[in-house]
Amino acid sequence: MGAADVIAVDTGPLVAALRGARSVFALSGSGISAESGLPTFRGVGGLWRTHRVEELASPEGFARDPRLVWTWYNERASAHRRAEPNAGHYALARLEEAIGDFTLATQNVDSLHRRAGSRNVLELHGDLREARCTQCGARRALDATGLPLTEIEHACGGRLRPNIVWFGEPLPAAVWREAEAAAARADAILVVGTSAVVYPAAALATRYNDRAFVAEINPEETAISVRVDCALRARAAELLPRILDKLQR
Ligand code: APR
Repeated sequence: MGAADVIAVDTGPLVAALRGARSVFALSGSGISAESGLPTFRGVGGLWRTHRVEELASPEGFARDPRLVWTWYNERASAHRRAEPNAGHYALARLEEAIGDFTLATQNVDSLHRRAGSRNVLELHGDLREARCTQCGARRALDATGLPLTEIEHACGGRLRPNIVWFGEPLPAAVWREAEAAAARADAILVVGTSAVVYPAAALATRYNDRAFVAEINPEETAISVRVDCALRARAAELLPRILDKLQR
């Protein structure tokens, strides 16, 4: 997609909605980190195209082969640290500065929103900054290469697992409640870089608020494209900075 395509994308209605918004909610997915070189899950080259979800991102898979699971998460943790936030991440941090009541809920565990300066980030699916014990709940910071495979067994008899929400597991209750409330009170909702197929996170985009102006930024059609007020077919790192520039003109 070249710059010409982006110019054809009409950001007017979204900028107007943001300008008039007292409260804004944003939901991001792996697509916003694609331009930082991190793979998405379902697109071309996506992680679920080349890995088996149930083996790697489930409590059963971890119980069956914790070393395989940590090998995979250690590779992802290393990739996250090598990656840099991109213009899309920085633009959302600028949006937080511009809007009094702004909440960003991310499905990503790469910490790139925090590294770009976003402060109020709800990590719906956890993070890859630390491990936690399955038995006593003890936390252990991950270093640049993750967790040494020789240190999975915890002294209490439990096992150190990634602090990630796996398929079939509940999202952190307090985080979810805050995200629901933010989505419900928003005047404008921005959905960036998610296929919107994984629940409950995807529900935040359109199920908690029937008055907000909802826009999605995604080069592809998604599961919620028919329900949003404006679907901007563009890449986040290209379009989000333009939206902030227009908003702050
Ligand atoms: N800018 C914006 N969107 C992009 C870009 C980009 N540069 N590149 C790709 N996308 C879009 C794709 O078109 C796709 O719709 O990002 C989306 C990525 O979708 P998925 O791969 O399904 O990732 P995501 O929606 O984040 O998955 C949600 O599923 O596997 C679980 O827990 C995992 O948090 C993840 C959840």
